[in-house]
Amino acid sequence: MQFLLSEDQKMIRDMAREFASDKIAPFAMSWDQNHEFPMETIRQMAELGLLGMTVSEEFEGAGLDTVSYALAVMEIAKGCSSVAVTMCVNHLVCSILQDYGSQQQKDRYLKDLASGREIGSFCLTEPQAGSDAQNQKTRATRTATGWVLQGKKAWITNGTYASVFVVTAVTSEDASGKKEISAFLVPRNAKGLILGKPEHKMGQCASNTIEVTLEGVELSEDAIIGGENGFKVMMNGLNSGRVGIASLCCGIAASAIREAVNYANERVAFGAPIANLQAIQFKIADMVTGLEASELLTLKAAWLKDSGKSYVESASMAKVFASEMVNRVTAEAVQIHGGNGYVREYLVEKLYRDARITTIYEGTSEIQRLVIGRGVLKKGFL
Ligand code: CAA
Repeated sequence: MQFLLSEDQKMIRDMAREFASDKIAPFAMSWDQNHEFPMETIRQMAELGLLGMTVSEEFEGAGLDTVSYALAVMEIAKGCSSVAVTMCVNHLVCSILQDYGSQQQKDRYLKDLASGREIGSFCLTEPQAGSDAQNQKTRATRTATGWVLQGKKAWITNGTYASVFVVTAVTSEDASGKKEISAFLVPRNAKGLILGKPEHKMGQCASNTIEVTLEGVELSEDAIIGGENGFKVMMNGLNSGRVGIASLCCGIAASAIREAVNYANERVAFGAPIANLQAIQFKIADMVTGLEASELLTLKAAWLKDSGKSYVESASMAKVFASEMVNRVTAEAVQIHGGNGYVREYLVEKLYRDARITTIYEGTSEIQRLVIGRGVLKKGFL
């Protein structure tokens, strides 16, 4: 992969690698076990420009390309995928504002989010509407002065710590039931915005996930992002988000492979390190091949985005391939560790749990296949 990168991109990757190895990895198991959101670490990442990497400098971002962003997420996720997903969701909100926000919205919110002074949250999913995003029930009703929002959002990353929420809601519905969905900016202090308790999750326990209720939240006219019919706003945000999650998967897998290789070289069975056994060598070969293929798919999707080309299907290919790869790789890393892989003292136990959500959030594997299949059948082979 080295051969594909510019000197600047290598520099960003190395900076993120050093930060993850010094300031994240040593604490990741303790954050996981205590379900601790590492706010101080997020603040340090903000100072390094890691929270608004692709936002233009005009809005206090780092003005970097998506390839650099993907490389940085891979490195941060090697340290801890909870920190990486916090970064990814803030980036998703930044991307939506950068691409669709008005000048006023960018001045008011994007600068704070890109600089990392504040954190953002993205509220699309509802208790009854995950994959079927068009089935959402949260309503935005017009008033004399703006909008009023009513509904419930589920599995909201960063919710407890966010200062602003991008919330999708139905703005109209025709007689056939076809809904028009729009996106709104809801500040944390909005009256009627109710934040639930953090979910008790299987993995990525140092990231924050809550339910958000909107009880008659009144917003001004200019709270809408990109005008009515915001389904495209939200889907385009998710495309960019999927490149981030694919990168995160590569980071977890790289850590699992490192742990498995170290363990295989140390663990003795039948009179020699288990690394001498073909059974282990074949596992490592498949693990590292899967990782490298995922990295290439992810960087290709990022490069297409940077080149201004269509990358919808490529983002979904990277996401589905990398997330399924990391589930296989972490399972094999546990297998190589034997019984030790099943206890909390060994990092692979955490990596295995952390990997599980990746085929579910930011669009399940099934949805990614639907996006790829529909895209190829409509537009032809890419
Ligand atoms: N990019 C851009 N546009 C897209 C798109 C994409 N990825 N996917 C669909 N669209 C467009 C379609 O082209 C179509 O546009 P036209 O009307 O102009 O033709 C429109 O959106 C509707 O698409 P479909 O007819 O395909 O609608 P559908 O309801 O049958 O399917 C879907 C849509 C692909 C299933 C979509 O609902 C989807 O992606 N669902 C998954 C939602 C998701 O990813 N949720 C993750 C939550 S966020 C999260 O997890 C963040 C976190 O905290 C970690």
